[in-house]
Amino acid sequence: MARVFVTRHVPTGGLDPLTARGHDVVVRADDNPMSHDDLVEAAASADALVCLLTDRIDDDVLAAGAGAHLRVVANVAVGYDNIDVSAATRRGIAVCNTPGVLDETTADLAFLLILAASRLASESERDLRAGRWQGWGINQYLGEDVHDTVLGLVGFGRIGRAVARRAQGFGMEVLHHSRADTGAPGYTPTLAALLARADAVSVHVPLTDESRDLIGPEELAIMKPTAVLVNTSRGPVVDEEALAEALEAGTIFAAGLDVYRDEPRVSPRLLAAPRAVLLPHIGSATRATRTRMAQVACSGVCEVLDGVRPANLVTG
Ligand code: GLV
Repeated sequence: MARVFVTRHVPTGGLDPLTARGHDVVVRADDNPMSHDDLVEAAASADALVCLLTDRIDDDVLAAGAGAHLRVVANVAVGYDNIDVSAATRRGIAVCNTPGVLDETTADLAFLLILAASRLASESERDLRAGRWQGWGINQYLGEDVHDTVLGLVGFGRIGRAVARRAQGFGMEVLHHSRADTGAPGYTPTLAALLARADAVSVHVPLTDESRDLIGPEELAIMKPTAVLVNTSRGPVVDEEALAEALEAGTIFAAGLDVYRDEPRVSPRLLAAPRAVLLPHIGSATRATRTRMAQVACSGVCEVLDGVRPANLVTG
């Protein structure tokens, strides 16, 4: 049976597909992100690596694996920008991810951020907890409505579509922009047109060279002063300094972020910016979803080790 190295603990039951197949599973005891050197060493000693988005699987790691007997790297995440997929493909190592199992959970969180940012939930709760709330006031914490407004989705994959379904319940008009015409109602050919019309903008694109800094100063300047920006995709898709500046200047109303450019570091300027709801990358963080994600990643490992092409194979 194959040796599978798991870089950090996953929820109970997550490794079931591997243990059911009788693989020799080694789970690293330390729960901090792995160092690059440790990843190189792990890759050289296993047939399969089950890793997390905090593990940078670059060509050094893959070369060490290819020089030994590594056959597959399975990321317990749908995004795989932490893995050099083209290097893996070149070296004959399969890469798997977890599509389809976290869409609804992540869409819930995106909607939570749309609501929390629009209604100043973090800021008002902070005041209450700090004893600064002096009682109800008619002009206090005036937010922006979510119902019956316009939602602009940047990216219209599985998660974007799941957010769109939620928006219908709030009577929102839903626009979406993506590189290719989806043919679906609400398709907006240019990002600028979407940003100009949306009251809430929610970002759902993978991080690629093309999407890096997709929402920068020019894009923020197009948004309405009453609009909110939500990002649950990857931090580098939004220019954080430009966003902090827009919040400080009030050129957009509020922001809700779950992801950051340089996690776990959060830009001090963003931390200090007004009307920002900031969550620690918990988009898919429910017990059921994180368990399913680990199981899907591990099923991909089993299939590759059995010589079967997995449905969750990432092609670079
Ligand atoms: C989480 O961010 C994921 O990509 O699954």
